[in-house]
Amino acid sequence: MPPQPSVQRSKPRILTGDTPTSTGLHLGHYVGSLENRLKLQDEYDCYFLIANIHAFTTLADKPADIRANTLGIVKDWLAVGLDPDRSTFVLQSEIPAIAELTFLFAMLIPFNKVMRNPTLKTEIETKGLGETYPFGFPMYAVGQCADILAFRPELVPVGEDQEAHIEMCRDVALKFNQLYCGVGNRVPTDEHAKAGGVFPIPKAKIGRIARLVGTDGKNKMSKSLNNAIFLYDDAKQVQKKINGIKTDRPTMNSPLPDDSALRQYIDAFLPQERAGQIKADYASGKEVMDGHIKAEVGAAINALIEPMRARRATLEGPDGEQKVLDVIKAGIKKANVVAEETLYLAKKAMGLEFGSRALG
Ligand code: TRP
Repeated sequence: MPPQPSVQRSKPRILTGDTPTSTGLHLGHYVGSLENRLKLQDEYDCYFLIANIHAFTTLADKPADIRANTLGIVKDWLAVGLDPDRSTFVLQSEIPAIAELTFLFAMLIPFNKVMRNPTLKTEIETKGLGETYPFGFPMYAVGQCADILAFRPELVPVGEDQEAHIEMCRDVALKFNQLYCGVGNRVPTDEHAKAGGVFPIPKAKIGRIARLVGTDGKNKMSKSLNNAIFLYDDAKQVQKKINGIKTDRPTMNSPLPDDSALRQYIDAFLPQERAGQIKADYASGKEVMDGHIKAEVGAAINALIEPMRARRATLEGPDGEQKVLDVIKAGIKKANVVAEETLYLAKKAMGLEFGSRALG
């Protein structure tokens, strides 16, 4: 029997994800997205995706790293408090509907628009991909539309750098609904699903801190730029990285430069009132010892990540790995039910209904 579209949703849906290009997640991921995910787990039906196929766009020669990073990310998710009983963990490589939808959606996006995507352009620059990147690299932006739309979510919590991708995803959903589901071009985006569109037009939800600067004070926090504080760094490493932040103050009475990473971390990790007080002290020409402030910020970060570190430690070793693999397996099963249903609905709308398959 073909999959039947689920009846009324009890909760609106969220989809978001991470690419396993590094061993684990860092504070930029936390304030940009993970924190949001934790808060939204009860109110929303959540899908969290590991974009392990996308990791091959830049690491095709390092499959063992991608596998280790994939397990590392799931460990971090569990450590942070993402809950596989309430939410669905989605391993991209085991969801065939995502690959199929990618091909179908590729017909709806002008080639030049993909190549002009600012997120891709920035990545080509910062990762030094030059002219040698594979065809699959720009293709991942189309793939990301499929990652999202396979789960027909209303909301996509992401960092600011992903906005261009979400915009492209909205365009694809809009065009699909108009071309294949008879949704009129005057129907407001919020009403597409009600008007018969297969896809709700998803919205990006940007985190509390859209772009957390790295400890270098210049670039976005990122593993490849060596400026990241990881959620699994130990307390000493965290404090050492904070101590290494440049403040560029000629004297202890000089103001803290706007572009110092320390300023952003004061705002991001200290209670609002205390952050206000410290900034006022710096601004008023009072004597402030950067070392004391760094100790305070380091302690706050450690207090935040200590429970995560403790939980992550329980996931190390063979038993931990087995637990992670079990969580991944259970997620694949749940995710395929939804993604297959979406694929069926999409193909039906496109006149491609010739029978259907069942995935066990
Ligand atoms: N491209 C995202 C990143 O690098 C990860 C990702 C893949 C994603 N598919 C997604 C994020 C779908 C949100 C929705 O951070």
